[in-house]
Amino acid sequence: MRQSSLVVVANRLPIDDSTTPDGACEWRRSPGGLVSALHSPLRQTPATWVGWAGGTGPAPALPDVDGVRMHTVPLTADDLRDHYEGFANATLWPLYHDAVEQPEHHRRWWEAYQRVNQRFAAAAAEVAEPGAVVWVQDYHLQLVPGLLRALRPDLRIGFFLHVAFPPPELFMQLPRRAELLRGMLGADLVGFQRAQAAHNFAQLADRVLGLPATDHRIAVDGRIVRVGSFPVSIDTTEMTALVERPDVADRASRLRRDLGSPEHVILSVDRMDYTKGIEQRLKAYSELIADGHVKVRDTVLVQVAVPSRERVGQYQILRERVEREVGRINGEFGRVGEPAIHYLTQPFDRAELAALYRIADVMAVTPLRDGMNLVAKEYVAARVDDTGALLLSEFAGAAAELPQAYLVNPHDLEGLKQGLLAALRARPEQVRERMQAMRTHLRQHDIHAWARSYLSALDQDSTLLSRLGTTP
Ligand code: ADP
Ligand code: F6P
Repeated sequence: MRQSSLVVVANRLPIDDSTTPDGACEWRRSPGGLVSALHSPLRQTPATWVGWAGGTGPAPALPDVDGVRMHTVPLTADDLRDHYEGFANATLWPLYHDAVEQPEHHRRWWEAYQRVNQRFAAAAAEVAEPGAVVWVQDYHLQLVPGLLRALRPDLRIGFFLHVAFPPPELFMQLPRRAELLRGMLGADLVGFQRAQAAHNFAQLADRVLGLPATDHRIAVDGRIVRVGSFPVSIDTTEMTALVERPDVADRASRLRRDLGSPEHVILSVDRMDYTKGIEQRLKAYSELIADGHVKVRDTVLVQVAVPSRERVGQYQILRERVEREVGRINGEFGRVGEPAIHYLTQPFDRAELAALYRIADVMAVTPLRDGMNLVAKEYVAARVDDTGALLLSEFAGAAAELPQAYLVNPHDLEGLKQGLLAALRARPEQVRERMQAMRTHLRQHDIHAWARSYLSALDQDSTLLSRLGTTP
């Protein structure tokens, strides 16, 4: 078994197994923020990525992806149901997102979570060189740091949570709250998107485990675990290069024509997830049309909602409701050849997404709760001419970094409508000023800066950073 000095452990590998319409197996980039975040900084770094390749059954042997070794962890059908769909996505996910849907608790799911975390920890222990840095990602694998430390005390272990981390009142609902906290505390550094999340974690370590804790340091088992916030970002250089490509510019012009060359294009790009506020947004938009503030002839909404976690009941219900509502709005307000909403559920390649960002006069990113939301940052990076208004939920992690966006509370329907109108009607100088400020922030806080700041905090005196493919 080849070993690496840097090992990333994440539920998903950066590619997954998608079946084409003619039944052939095709490997393509996995959707979602985690892969978007880690793909660039790791490129060409001699690292190993331990993860699941999608599907069930034996682990396929995969070729390296952009110089990074793929080490596949298999999931059985039971693991998929009870670990991924169950404990990760029907217990932790809703609980961590303000319980906007009811979290479910089942003992069988917890058993699967432990079993799968054991398997990931064993795989990481196998591929890590002596003294290696192992960087564990996200809520699917919260027990891995503790399990891995027991197997390999020589390793330097980091944990980063990509999603929101809830206030103690919510976390306390978890029947296995102490074990989950202990698992995370197996790391040397526990990273969150926001300082508030680090504060919540420290409070819980104190309240549940009785540990001496500040927002930056927690003492456990004779060790100090450092805690901090490291807001994740995107590859701004890659996005800028993409939108400036002539074929992307052509694609953008064609898209705008195909939409009927409207005065305003509003765009939303989400995974189909109840945390993303899609239903609230549709309601606000349809009321603006009904009130006569928005005319379907001048304004179109393009809603991209790529299906996600499709076997989880709450996701199935959401999709049905969204599709019913899109149908109702188009039926009521659209005209032949002029729908009020262009609704797309396909995954797009990066160039197609860049073309969409290029034509969006208003980008509506209005989650009810989101750890960060990389779509908001991708849009800002794509607006190379400093145009475009970002309508952004206060409850997205990105809002803390992009206060120049048109900030809204998506639970407040009137506020959401007013915010959307303000973004649509804003004066060009005002839009430009706001966009410039957001772009300046993002240029200095891109994905490479994020990876550098996390890994230098984790591995303060090693040479790892010099080997990481992060260009300053
Ligand atoms: P989450 O991690 O909850 O999915 P983020 O907004 O942080 O949310 O990240 C979503 C990522 O998935 C972004 O990089 C975005 O470009 C990508 N994405 C979203 N929708 C699509 C789609 N239809 N096709 C391809 N990529 C998509
Ligand atoms: O950011 C939360 C997250 O679970 C990421 O780990 C992942 O990139 C994204 O949402 C997509 O989710 P899934 O891996 O369940 O398709």
